[in-house]
Amino acid sequence: MTDTAGAEPVTYRLQGRVGVIRISNPPVNALSAAVRTGLRRGIEIATADAGCDAILLVGDGRAFIGGADIREFGKPSVPPSLPEVCAVIEASAKPVVAAIHGPCLGGGLEVALSAHYRVACDDARLGLPEVTLGLLPGAGGTQRGTRLLGAKAALDLMLSGRHVGAAEACKLGLVDKAVPAGEGAALAAGLDYARELLERGAAPRRSSEDTTGLADDAGNRAAIAAARADAQKKSRGLFSPFKIIDAVEAALDRPFDAGMALERAAFLEAMASPQRAGLIHAFFAERETAKSPETRAAQPRPIASVGVVGGGTMGAGITVALLDAGLPVTMVERDDAALARGQGFVEKVYDGLIAKGRIDIAAKQRTLSRYTGSTDYAALAGADLVIEAVFEDMAVKKAVFAELDRVCKPGAVLATNTSYLDIDEIAASIGRPQDVLGLHFFSPANIMKLLEIVVPARVSADVVATGFALAKLLKKVPVRAGVCDGFIGNRILATYRLAADYMVEDGASPYQVDKALRDFGFAMGPFQVSDLAGGDIGWATRKRKAATRDPRQRYVQIADRLCERGWFGQKTGRGWYLYPDGARTGTPDPEVEAIIDAERQRAGITPRSFGDDEIVRRILAAMANEGARILEEKVALRPLDIDVVFVHGYGFPRYRGGPMFHADTTGVANVLKDLRAFAAEDAFFWQPAPLLERLATAGQTLASLNADHDKNRD
Ligand code: 3HC
Ligand code: NAI
Repeated sequence: MTDTAGAEPVTYRLQGRVGVIRISNPPVNALSAAVRTGLRRGIEIATADAGCDAILLVGDGRAFIGGADIREFGKPSVPPSLPEVCAVIEASAKPVVAAIHGPCLGGGLEVALSAHYRVACDDARLGLPEVTLGLLPGAGGTQRGTRLLGAKAALDLMLSGRHVGAAEACKLGLVDKAVPAGEGAALAAGLDYARELLERGAAPRRSSEDTTGLADDAGNRAAIAAARADAQKKSRGLFSPFKIIDAVEAALDRPFDAGMALERAAFLEAMASPQRAGLIHAFFAERETAKSPETRAAQPRPIASVGVVGGGTMGAGITVALLDAGLPVTMVERDDAALARGQGFVEKVYDGLIAKGRIDIAAKQRTLSRYTGSTDYAALAGADLVIEAVFEDMAVKKAVFAELDRVCKPGAVLATNTSYLDIDEIAASIGRPQDVLGLHFFSPANIMKLLEIVVPARVSADVVATGFALAKLLKKVPVRAGVCDGFIGNRILATYRLAADYMVEDGASPYQVDKALRDFGFAMGPFQVSDLAGGDIGWATRKRKAATRDPRQRYVQIADRLCERGWFGQKTGRGWYLYPDGARTGTPDPEVEAIIDAERQRAGITPRSFGDDEIVRRILAAMANEGARILEEKVALRPLDIDVVFVHGYGFPRYRGGPMFHADTTGVANVLKDLRAFAAEDAFFWQPAPLLERLATAGQTLASLNADHDKNRD
């Protein structure tokens, strides 16, 4: 601790009568052991400093404090603990002000709540997002927060993990006042506030002694009951939401110290849970996938205007995503009728928002003023990027790319949203393969976060970097993928869907398979997914691949029988499930079960029963095995890329980290044992990937490949 700014993460300096404790631990001033030590020492120095009458806490750089240092989680704890530091801050006999700008999250907000007064700049983002990491606030957030805000608002913050701005924080009672943001604004506002408090002779005001939030006991009790009921429905399988509710209840029932003890015990339990490990893996993994060899090597090309070819399901969704990001968009369709339909899809999204009261008509008009429709490719001449989303047919795609090659300006990025087709072949069909990229969005494209950035062999690095820059602009989660049939996501989906089909033909019902996977934590089972996406898509793919299918691959015809009847899923009112009167949730269909029975007989199969556990193990083993092949082929750079694809694109439970992380949790050797056992009945499908064999022999984890990649990259 020095009185000048230096390399130390926390510094103290007297400014007038105010002792300024400044936190400087880039990038987000996370509360590492050194920061915690520095904060405690800062309060001690300020307490002893006769010239200091008030204390100010401020953060350097772009944040007040982004929270506890997540990188320390899972490692042995180093004193002082954050609750201790918060207790020291709150106990100060001199008034302590927190001046907040940028992120003030988790432990950061808990530090601020331990201060006696709080002022926030307009760029502040305050929240208790621990739940998103499988945790609960562990440094008094549940106790001080409830005393200040009441149970309802405190639970809302802690169970949603959402960030609130300065104005809302004022309204809630989290901060005393909001001030305009700007360079040095937090320090200036904090100093002003501290001086004002000194002039007023204001004494310390401790959140632990506050009773504002406890006044409405009946309201608090009702909020607890409602939160419990809601969590039973929405937080199925999760650990920490229920602990948060318990801790908030303890704030109502118990003295502060007893509430703190309960919070601490629950926090340590949550810290030890595998869910915490899975969620934190997901947090870091999605930050890693945003970087790629190309983003390190090249600068993105500027994107000021975008074209979209095709205004169907995907083209319209992509158009909305681009418009929402503030870009001007030109949609090109085959003819006027198709163009009108495409524009209609786009408008429908905004009309839906108007109906929900989320935007007004003027906002829709403002957004659509950046939209242009055309049936003439010449309208794309000025576009910096064009995304093709026409029918999934190589000849049609090549014809579109020939047009783009003809009309687009030199240097325009030409992207395809194909799901399965060979992008190298598309690129080779035109005169500028270096500009051709895959941008694989997920449906609905304006909602789903995942964007697979598919990198063909001949593309230049700056085009790939442009794809990543676009993802950032659209607030998507990008994952780099190589060219292959289905890239990362759809290729693994196709594999575990086969595993599911085999189980159904062998005796499981599709409804049992879906339920077992939902119980594991998937948002939906594979047969529900098929009904939602439309069975016709998979049917077309199966027909396309029939000629080249390896004769050793077992083929189950049940889905074909459904499709032959026109049962494509939700859109046709029935598929694997029945959807009477446009219902969105399906009900089991006895006729489908009869068809399955008939198919089993035709294939000469005597049905056997499957336990839910076996269903899940087979699906996960199939995912890990195909994932390992994808890694061998370098279609995915690291196991974590596969994890992010499945968490963000396929409803894989985030708290389990992703399929590859989960394989490590199970143990690679155990996954291999399963694969070998299953291979006894179908050696072709279940043949273990050599990578898994190698890792198991060496006693290594898949996660070690994430680390190896990092080592090799510099
Ligand atoms: N600990 C360690 N590293 C962190 C961190 C944290 N709390 N928060 C962010 N980082 C790292 C990121 O990993 C990233 O590192 P990289 O550059 O090497 O990839 C870097 O900081 C920048 O992060 P982002 O790319 O996410 O930057 P943004 O500006 O987009 O977002 C943020 C900043 C809003 C702070 C976001 O990083 C975030 O949400 N962080 C997590 C916040 C959080 O969950 N805090 C609660 C922690 S749990 C806790 O406090 C327990 C307590 O109750 C005891
Ligand atoms: P869709 O059938 O809803 O839309 C395709 C649109 O392309 C139609 O509106 C059609 O009129 C238009 N079109 C066809 N030929 C054209 C041409 N020559 N010029 C201009 N427009 C033309 O199909 P969807 O579902 O939107 O799929 C589009 C692409 O996106 C396909 O490659 C598909 O594989 C891919 N994709 C689809 C996903 C989905 O869930 N539907 C998810 C991710 C990718």
